[in-house]
Amino acid sequence: MKNFWQQLEKPIISMTPMAGITDSAWRQICKMWGADIVHTEFVSADALHYDSKKTLKMLKYKTSEHPIVVQLFGRRPEMYPKAAKIVESLGVDGIDLNFGCPAKKVAGHGGGICLLRDMDTVKKIVATTIESTKLPVSVKTRMSLNAVQGDPKQGKITVFDFIDALAEFPLAALIVHGRTYETPYTGPVDLKGLKKARKKFKNGIFLINGSFQTVESIVKDLKYTKADGIALSRALYGQPWLFKQIKDYIETGKYKEISDQEIKDTAIKHAHLLWESKGANGFKEMRKHLLFYVKARPDAASLRKQLVAVENPQQVEKIFNKI
Ligand SMILES: Cc1cc2nc3c(=O)[nH]c(=O)nc-3n(C[C@H](O)[C@H](O)[C@H](O)COP(=O)(O)O)c2cc1C
Repeated sequence: MKNFWQQLEKPIISMTPMAGITDSAWRQICKMWGADIVHTEFVSADALHYDSKKTLKMLKYKTSEHPIVVQLFGRRPEMYPKAAKIVESLGVDGIDLNFGCPAKKVAGHGGGICLLRDMDTVKKIVATTIESTKLPVSVKTRMSLNAVQGDPKQGKITVFDFIDALAEFPLAALIVHGRTYETPYTGPVDLKGLKKARKKFKNGIFLINGSFQTVESIVKDLKYTKADGIALSRALYGQPWLFKQIKDYIETGKYKEISDQEIKDTAIKHAHLLWESKGANGFKEMRKHLLFYVKARPDAASLRKQLVAVENPQQVEKIFNKI
């Protein structure tokens, strides 16, 4: 039987996991605008293994978010069987494994992208997760990490080594962020490298990620790399309608600019969804999204002053209904 990744129409336009961003409210907004798949922020396999209530709370979602994939991180293979079983019991659609995080608190302890230095552990994590769940398992990584000077055991490792190491596994998908460990979030992505990785990866769906700017450039990169789809991240900040615009552009060669009214409606809806899922305590997180929604407006500076102080969706409505 085909897994849900294989049933989706290509190109697949999805989003990546983003800590502090891809919560339930944001995922619902992205689905509303046509995301084919949504990802949770990464959650610790260790925390799930040890029954962390806080982590379980992070995994609450609404039925409108299907298909939804939970991303796990952690460097200890023995944590994954229980974590995978817990994730499966939540009724989500897939599990993604993080082999790309460059953050000190993850990579600094040998996790995320630095796990690629220990391909046996990578394989154990993948094998043990696949064995522990019926859900399709995908992986996310980066183009490469450099050699450690003076240590012959720690040479340069690339996504191609990663693909070779995982060739034997029935992976559902591979998402590659086209930057390296050393250039974590800035600069262009390696499109040539992504295209090569696309050609090499035979196990499942291949999605490219990183540095997407405009509808036109996204579709151009997609065509150039021949990927099965793209996973969007920061390009979505304040413009979740990119999903629809990209799809329209692919289908018809054109797309509609978003109207002021649609921006206001989306921001207000987002505020209500965040309030429903996180309540008063979590609502401050809405402020950063609101600043992105108004960024392109000529009156952005004065709006910003009001939006950084909002405490609830009613205040958001009041501000937006005046403009
Ligand atoms: C705030 C923030 C949080 C992120 N959290 C995660 C995460 O939890 N898991 C993950 O695999 N990547 C994470 N990433 C990386 C993104 O998913 C993505 O690969 C990266 O931002 C490159 O894409 P972009 O240039 O289109 O933004 C994060 C990035 C940012 C900026």
